[in-house]
Amino acid sequence: MKGLKLIGVKKTFERGTPNEKVALGGVDLEVAGGDFITVLGSNGAGKSTLFNAILGKFRLDRGQILLDGEDITRQRDYQRALNIGCLYQDPLRGTAPNMTIEENLALAYTRKASRSFFAVNRRDSAHFRDLLKELDLGLEDRLKTRMGLLSGGQRQAASLLMATIAEPKLLLLDEHTAALDPATAEKVLALTKEIVSKRGLTCLMITHNMQSALALGNRTIVMDGGRVILDVSGRERESMTVSGLLELFRERSGRELDNDRMLLR
Ligand SMILES: Nc1ncnc2c1ncn2[C@@H]1O[C@H](COP(=O)(O)OP(=O)(O)OP(=O)(O)O)[C@@H](O)[C@H]1O
Ligand SMILES: [Mg+2]
Repeated sequence: MKGLKLIGVKKTFERGTPNEKVALGGVDLEVAGGDFITVLGSNGAGKSTLFNAILGKFRLDRGQILLDGEDITRQRDYQRALNIGCLYQDPLRGTAPNMTIEENLALAYTRKASRSFFAVNRRDSAHFRDLLKELDLGLEDRLKTRMGLLSGGQRQAASLLMATIAEPKLLLLDEHTAALDPATAEKVLALTKEIVSKRGLTCLMITHNMQSALALGNRTIVMDGGRVILDVSGRERESMTVSGLLELFRERSGRELDNDRMLLR
């Protein structure tokens, strides 16, 4: 059974101290294989914590996480990383700035295989060149360029390739375009859409931009106070507007959602 399933996932930080914080209050979420879900919610809603729970960055208070039918609740983070690709706001995170684009891609490509990463053969090189060419950023001729020399947008696009090159069971994107200028962010979002659909990836994408949350993917969830309080898909989502979503949030949570806080970081 493909997809991701969270059952009653609860996480409390600094339990028993005055700073005790229930960051996830028992999240149930079922993600079908091939679903592309956008995740909204104001600051501190628990979005990144949800990703960290899936990535195994800490032990849960309780709950269960299944990936493609396998219970990964007790798997270590480095084991899960073989099947889960992720991308963050900071374009440098997850890449080796002093290695070339080719070496970075090779590292990501061979991570799952047992063969040595240094064995980049001509076929791999050609494969990387083809993939880079699809990005349409002129990177196919710069395989020997150090990653750290690329612009933020180029690096984020190359990171997207790295995160998906080993065909992960799940792709997690945590505001991966938030640090880019609007035009570059648009371009990386378009690439995201293309790569996710071409590879049929199961993907969760956190964003603060309600417009792109509704435009991308096939389902949108909104988190608040460590819970998923809205879950919109299908026809309801097709006709959903930003103001409609804000209205639903108000109904469900009994609070106003500050639109500016959602849109601006
Ligand atoms: N390692 C940690 N230790 C203590 N508290 C934490 C830790 N990580 C997150 N929290 C707390 O858990 C809550 C949820 O944080 P989280 O980072 O998941 O929010 P978010 O929805 O990603 O917000 P943002 O949009 O600002 O990134 C916050 O109150 C935060 O302070
Ligand atoms: Mg976050």
